[in-house]
Amino acid sequence: MKLKLIFSGCLFIAVTGSTTAAFCQTKKTVKTVTKVSTITVSKADIAAGQLLVSKSDCVGCHSVNNKMVGPAYVTIAQTYPMTDANVTALSQKIISGGSGKWGQVPMTPHPAITSPDAKKIVKYILSLNTK
Ligand code: HEC
Repeated sequence: MKLKLIFSGCLFIAVTGSTTAAFCQTKKTVKTVTKVSTITVSKADIAAGQLLVSKSDCVGCHSVNNKMVGPAYVTIAQTYPMTDANVTALSQKIISGGSGKWGQVPMTPHPAITSPDAKKIVKYILSLNTK
């Protein structure tokens, strides 16, 4: 049982007790950093997202560089780093619509867009961050 515990927490078992403890601590620190880091998205997802945006009504309220009824895509991209949490939250917002983040004007809901498609759209928008 004790051996099992060591196995799950650490990568190396063929070391002394104290060295193992030190290694585990290092591993924990790395894990914390990984949590806030951004995700890598595929070029295929970005291209698919761009195509979906061009086929939808987004263009009536958004442009890449200028604020219209809604915020510019580049401004959105500079506000939200490409993390899993942001991709999920923004994709849900596109589907259900809403206001409050940028002002009182609401974005219309898009119930016809599926969740995987909405995520590709968000990946495209967040990829426009040139900072
Ligand atoms: C009727 C106009 C309108 C249309 C159509 C529209 N939007 Fe929006 N969008 C807005 C407004 C207004 C906001 C700001 C909402 C707020 O303040 O929370 C917004 C915000 C956003 C945000 C940022 C959300 C946040 O919480 O920060 C994203 C991403 C977005 N729109 C993507 C899209 C996409 C993709 C489409 C097309 C599928 C689309 N929008 C269609 C008006 C629109």
